[in-house]
Amino acid sequence: MAEKTARLSVDGIDKDIELPIYSGTEGPDVIDVRPLTSEGLFTYDPGFVSTASCESKITYIDGGKGILLHRGYPIEQLADHADYMDVCYLLLNGELPNAEEKAKFVHTVTHHTMVHEQLSQFFRGFRRDAHPMAIMCGVVGALSAFYHDSLDINDPHHREVCAYRLIAKMPTLAAMCYKYSIGQPFMYPRNDMDYAENFLRMMFGTPCDDYKVSPTLAKAMDKIFILHADHEQNASTSTVRLAGSSGANPFACIAAGIAALWGPAHGGANEAVLHMLSEIGDVENIPEFIQKAKDPNDPFRLMGFGHRVYRNFDPRAKVMKKTCDEVLAELGIENDPQLAIAKELERIALEDPYFVERKLYPNVDFYSGIILKAIGIPTTMFTVIFALSRTIGWISHWSEFHSGPNKIGRPRQLYTGEQMRNHPDAE
Ligand code: CMC
Repeated sequence: MAEKTARLSVDGIDKDIELPIYSGTEGPDVIDVRPLTSEGLFTYDPGFVSTASCESKITYIDGGKGILLHRGYPIEQLADHADYMDVCYLLLNGELPNAEEKAKFVHTVTHHTMVHEQLSQFFRGFRRDAHPMAIMCGVVGALSAFYHDSLDINDPHHREVCAYRLIAKMPTLAAMCYKYSIGQPFMYPRNDMDYAENFLRMMFGTPCDDYKVSPTLAKAMDKIFILHADHEQNASTSTVRLAGSSGANPFACIAAGIAALWGPAHGGANEAVLHMLSEIGDVENIPEFIQKAKDPNDPFRLMGFGHRVYRNFDPRAKVMKKTCDEVLAELGIENDPQLAIAKELERIALEDPYFVERKLYPNVDFYSGIILKAIGIPTTMFTVIFALSRTIGWISHWSEFHSGPNKIGRPRQLYTGEQMRNHPDAE
């Protein structure tokens, strides 16, 4: 219920329009603009920078203070004290699991990791040099053609089964994309390994050897999964909610989210960071690229810097930087030329007035790109790993949307095209 009210006076309307104001548990109040429609008015907010599109209990971000909470828990604490399965359970169910709930959840996810054998035929339709995100859009959407028994979006049990299937099968599908691109056999998941270990084995193992997973790399992978798990109403999550609002099945909605994530301004940034480091090529070329980044007439931007919401340090980047240092030390990678460029860029951006004044700090993707490269993940797979990690966020938001009263999303527009006119033959 609204406790406060805003009054809007509009030229040409003789009475003030009353707009209810709602308060959340955190964050700014929101003005309910729905009464404007009956007065023949819409609001205008390109990029939805000031519009709350829904009510949600899952994730809260305070960009100014650099705070990210999942179900109330700060991301730094989750990264230190929880694993990815805890975070998945938390996002989906609202509370951290106790030991029994965790064991049951892990068991269920583990036993859904295999994909229908016929799905491997889908991969064979793609060129070997296809971008893995193109393959992921296709095969994740195709899951809806295989799992008909859980497609009733109005049935909470069906929604739960879909969530399990998606969380469990994404690493298998992601690793299959990589194996297909290098012409190696697909690896089946193993039920005696945890989520991150299983993924690394499916990526780097072959049926010919007994692949040993490094605990440091598995831990780093798990952290990357945690830090990308959810991020409130970002472009891909909003896409999943909007697609879901039409009643589309969850696999199709997640495929839509994957497509939205692919762009370099969103999930494609970690891949773009590595391309940028290659393009810079040498530490001595950095000043030239910094100049380009500052030039308003040059479209070049420093990839991995800045964020739509964080106008302070990205809290995920802090944790990621720590993990990055651990992984590089463990692997003995200290003299890598790209790493030297990355470190110098980070130093300059934290000191240069252009970046400081605009609060353009390194974001999570700046460090995750460096870690993934050190682990041996090919650049084209970076965004796939983001998609894998973010699936739990997408499906949690999709479930939340369907758990309460909802309506199809239908934004309006400020039309600036031709006014009504006659066809030349009609005159
Ligand atoms: N390099 C150089 N200048 C930049 C950058 C950058 N990376 N990002 C923003 N600016 C400048 C921009 O030109 C503008 O300058 P001015 O005020 O002089 O016009 C000012 O900073 C504000 O930028 P903006 O475009 O209004 O910011 P935005 O909120 O629309 O864009 C962003 C946010 C993330 C799209 C942008 O910072 C960017 O393109 N960054 C690089 C791509 C990237 O790393 N994206 C990953 C985001 S984290 C992963 C995720 O959550 O999806």
